[in-house]
Amino acid sequence: MIVLGLSGAVNHDASAALYIDGKLVAAVEEERFLRDKHAKGKMPYEATKFCLEQAGITPEQIDIVAFPYAEIGLKSPARWHYAKRHWYAPDRALTALFSGNRRYWRNHQNVMKLLDDLGIGADRVKFVPVEHHLAHASSAYHLSGFKEKTAIIGIDGKGEYATTFFGYGENGRIHKIKEFYDPDSLGGMYGALTEYLGFEMLDGEFKVMGMAPYGDPSRFDFSRLIDCKDGNFKVNNKLVNTVGLRRHKKNGKGYFFSSDLIDWLGPMREGDEKDEPYIDYAASIQDLLEKTALQLIDHYLGDIIKETGKIAYAGGVALNVKLNQRIIAMPGVKELFVQPAASDAGTAIGAASYASQMAGVPVEKMEHVYLGPAYTTEQCIEACDNYEQPVTWQRMNNVTAETAQILADGNPISWFQGRMEFGPRALGNRSILGSPSHSGVADRINAQIKYRERWRPFCPSILDTVAPEILQTDHPSPYMTFTFDVNESWKSRIPEVVHEDGTARAQIVTQHTNPRYYSLLQEMEKLTGNGVVLNTSLNRRGEPMVCSPTDALNMFFGSDLQYLVMEDILITKQ
Ligand SMILES: [Fe+2]
Repeated sequence: MIVLGLSGAVNHDASAALYIDGKLVAAVEEERFLRDKHAKGKMPYEATKFCLEQAGITPEQIDIVAFPYAEIGLKSPARWHYAKRHWYAPDRALTALFSGNRRYWRNHQNVMKLLDDLGIGADRVKFVPVEHHLAHASSAYHLSGFKEKTAIIGIDGKGEYATTFFGYGENGRIHKIKEFYDPDSLGGMYGALTEYLGFEMLDGEFKVMGMAPYGDPSRFDFSRLIDCKDGNFKVNNKLVNTVGLRRHKKNGKGYFFSSDLIDWLGPMREGDEKDEPYIDYAASIQDLLEKTALQLIDHYLGDIIKETGKIAYAGGVALNVKLNQRIIAMPGVKELFVQPAASDAGTAIGAASYASQMAGVPVEKMEHVYLGPAYTTEQCIEACDNYEQPVTWQRMNNVTAETAQILADGNPISWFQGRMEFGPRALGNRSILGSPSHSGVADRINAQIKYRERWRPFCPSILDTVAPEILQTDHPSPYMTFTFDVNESWKSRIPEVVHEDGTARAQIVTQHTNPRYYSLLQEMEKLTGNGVVLNTSLNRRGEPMVCSPTDALNMFFGSDLQYLVMEDILITKQ
């Protein structure tokens, strides 16, 4: 049975994923092809074409198309909650009550058009809409591989109306325990503060989280932003998650917070520095998110966690690795699986896996995210030869040993091999790498390419043989979705990848999921004594991750990087 999952329902992060008989054969974000981060307002045309091509199937072979956005009936408390809480913006409230599925039908129309345009056939194929949070839940639970009863968490900005989901999975079925609805959204609250701190929603949340350890959460009391007790919470939408006239406006742009927030906290932050009091605000909002989420998780899922210790988690907030570290530390937790494509791109996998399960075809455990396009060495050479300027390249005899030597000499390199990663993290196939033992390497990467804020941490990829010693845990971490406390004795050995608070957001690399990357780490261990590299995604600031060899060349020649390894060739600058 062939199931195509499509996302793009909430106006950003369009993507496609393809299941054949329960096996995830391809998944990719539209942004990678369009070279437009988050592909806002786009449907996943190129992504769908790639999935078909990768699987070697024709459009008519698809049995089911699943979409992570569903109709919400008037009997559901969702629309009533939304209307009640938006009394101050009557147009919104009335729309929710009288035409609450307007967006669904707009989405539906877009999907049907895509299906016809690509020859899949809107009339022929079975169309399965899946509630947004069920899609997130499925992307976590069904791909976790957990066999025992599993607590499920979904936290994001919002889908149709739901913002937060607590439930459990048992025997391949997902059960809802509790949902919260807009404007009561933890992701929305964090996103509003992200905007206030001068960052863009969708990407800036990571920056707020990275800034938080520099600040002191006790200097400002943020408890007025949320009222959380007895398993309920209400966001203060006089301050954040505001709509309509209540929004703060500046230079014609409306923000998800009110002018009252400015009156309370002062002007919005500007620039690239980590400065007071903004670092304390970042610390406070992070602290508030952690406290509230942990309280709710304990309230709704505490019993299941005590019973089996297994948790599956998705939604944009699941990329908050600091909160995840605290979830792992909750009493009784044995293993937390975070869907690596936790934000909305991952709902393509979520909807497809849900539809497959419902059709009686269980899906496999997720083993890796190398689900995008790959290119042969010959294709890389062809891209070099056809490039708009002369490219100096040479074949490497021993790719990993030679690359490790360049790294061990203190140089950053761009590293392109195998199938592109699905989700926001580069995990060794489209990466910029450095030796974490060389002090100043992070600054060199920033100077040569990333141009990101100097205070933001870089992260390590670690051999599975040394990870338990460095991270002081046996908890799996294949996708950089958690931080761990770094062993004291290792902090000075790999200073470039340890954050201000002594943690690292680590990827543990295994041989069977990425043999070439594993071999590179082994070569690094031989040369430096440390089986670790600094790993950041292969792109320039504000651009999506590199997809093709030509994208890699564009990025390389648009930066000051000196080395680019693509499959078996080494490209250098003259
Ligand atoms: Fe979402």
